[in-house]
Amino acid sequence: MKKIVFFGAGNITQSIILGLISSGHNKENILFIDRNRKNRNVLKKLGIKEYTNSHKDKIDLFFLAVKPKDALVAYEEICNSHKKPKVISLVAGVRSKKYFSKSNNVEFIRAMPTTSSRFNKGITASLNISSTLSTYNKAKKIFSKVGMVIELKKEQEMDSFTGLIGSGPAYFFYLLKAYEKRLMKLCNNDSALTAKAMSGLLEGVALSLEDGSSIDDLIERVASKKGTTEAGLKSFKKNKLLSSFDKGISAAVNRSKEIADES
Ligand SMILES: NC(=O)c1ccc[n+]([C@@H]2O[C@H](COP(=O)([O-])OP(=O)(O)OC[C@H]3O[C@@H](n4cnc5c(N)ncnc54)[C@H](OP(=O)(O)O)[C@@H]3O)[C@@H](O)[C@H]2O)c1
Repeated sequence: MKKIVFFGAGNITQSIILGLISSGHNKENILFIDRNRKNRNVLKKLGIKEYTNSHKDKIDLFFLAVKPKDALVAYEEICNSHKKPKVISLVAGVRSKKYFSKSNNVEFIRAMPTTSSRFNKGITASLNISSTLSTYNKAKKIFSKVGMVIELKKEQEMDSFTGLIGSGPAYFFYLLKAYEKRLMKLCNNDSALTAKAMSGLLEGVALSLEDGSSIDDLIERVASKKGTTEAGLKSFKKNKLLSSFDKGISAAVNRSKEIADES
């Protein structure tokens, strides 16, 4: 059985591997390369083996998961030691032409996963740059095991995805700050209870989104005429909360494009 290798064993690799293990993926077919002792130990504790030269001919896919500043060096290392490797770059911002300037004897895919892959709730954007359909399907299958996959058509869309979905959880955490303060008071400063209440609130929202109703319908179900919710919503509208939120997302998407242009 061919193996997959994660080059870089930090946050995102750990999230994907935890998701893969809980989806039943065989640990024996996952390897890693990393210079950081702490990250190496985390993976070893999970029962994941380190790549060695003895595995050289048994590798199917390489997942490139180092920081953007380290990406080209790591990519070259893979290309120099493997004939036409299949590389899936998880690296934000570094465009395919940068890699191809080092070597284009490669099957290359870009993907942008999220750390919720750890709970098999990941959202991964994928884009086939130069791989065969069979390789691309194999990569998509791995990401499908840890959540859902959104296929992109153009490389620029990777930047929009990063600003929208990659950063997305932080936007909702930020909004929750307004809840946390008030809920803590209601929950007698019990932070565990407060966290549980916020999690329950969001779970309810998430489940409602899956029943096929429009967002306006969902709002209408909560807000009755002249009621409390309507008063809250009116105030949000008056203070242009939605357009301010949208501007924040635009700023993140623009920053993601800037980073790609800088690299
Ligand atoms: N974290 C996320 O939520 C997320 C989501 C989507 C995509 N990504 C992308 O995934 C990539 C990795 O992010 P991360 O947060 O997982 O990074 P990270 O936690 O810093 O992990 C990267 C690991 O790779 C190691 N490494 C770097 N260059 C190496 C080399 N030449 N040889 C051996 N090991 C090397 C690093 O070692 P040192 O610590 O010694 O440098 C580190 O242990 C980034 O490009 C990011 O854009 C991240």
